[in-house]
Amino acid sequence: SVFPDPAKASVAVAQRIANLIKDKQAKGESAVLGLATGATPVRVYAELVRLHKEEGLSFKNVVTFNLDEYYPMHPEAAQSYVRFMKENLFSHIDIDPVNIHIPDGTIALEDIPAYCLEYERQISSYGGLDLQILGIGRTGHIGFNEPGSAPNSGTRLVTLDDLTRRDASFDFGGKENVPTKAITMGIGTIFKAREIILMAWNQKKAEIIKKAVEGEMSSDVPATYLQQSSSVEFVLDADAASEL
Ligand code: GLP
Repeated sequence: SVFPDPAKASVAVAQRIANLIKDKQAKGESAVLGLATGATPVRVYAELVRLHKEEGLSFKNVVTFNLDEYYPMHPEAAQSYVRFMKENLFSHIDIDPVNIHIPDGTIALEDIPAYCLEYERQISSYGGLDLQILGIGRTGHIGFNEPGSAPNSGTRLVTLDDLTRRDASFDFGGKENVPTKAITMGIGTIFKAREIILMAWNQKKAEIIKKAVEGEMSSDVPATYLQQSSSVEFVLDADAASEL
């Protein structure tokens, strides 16, 4: 669906998340959410915080798994996704900290394969993701699944694309300071979610959105894999949709 602006789109996505949480609450079940970082979901999280503070939406039954984290990365560092999630969402709601999962950017290199398998196992142990929200990078990455990622890939250590590192250079005060690697859920991990919402705003995403939605399916643009799934919805603002 296409909305006139990111604010309206974000409120609609937050409302869907809130409805899922409330439906699960009514059944005495957990809502298992896959969460994303970056500028795109910031207003969704702000609206969820507002729903918590002003309308009493509780997150007590919510379990979250974040898509990715830079590697290496200290959780307290300004650019860490742990910090991002705290500042934008977790510090402002009543979620139980034991229900929060974010890939650990401090794990020893040799322990990463086992750590990633455990991340997958934990997602499964909650019955899988009910809803995964996604942004999209200008390389067509979802999570940090860069061009070349296999459609059945699992959580793993990946090498970041040069364009991704350039796009992150402002946050790190120069591209040379951007980590070269990240831990990310795989395309296969994301696909197991029962519902997927990919959000994109602004003109600078128009070109990659055209490729993702209308381009030939290929590992060159990992987001094209989403075309295979009927449980995916693209939520766009008019600018991001302008080349469709
Ligand atoms: C990062 C994240 C992605 C995100 C992308 C787009 O690389 N790992 O999950 O979708 O950036 O970021 P933004 O939303 O800031 O445009």
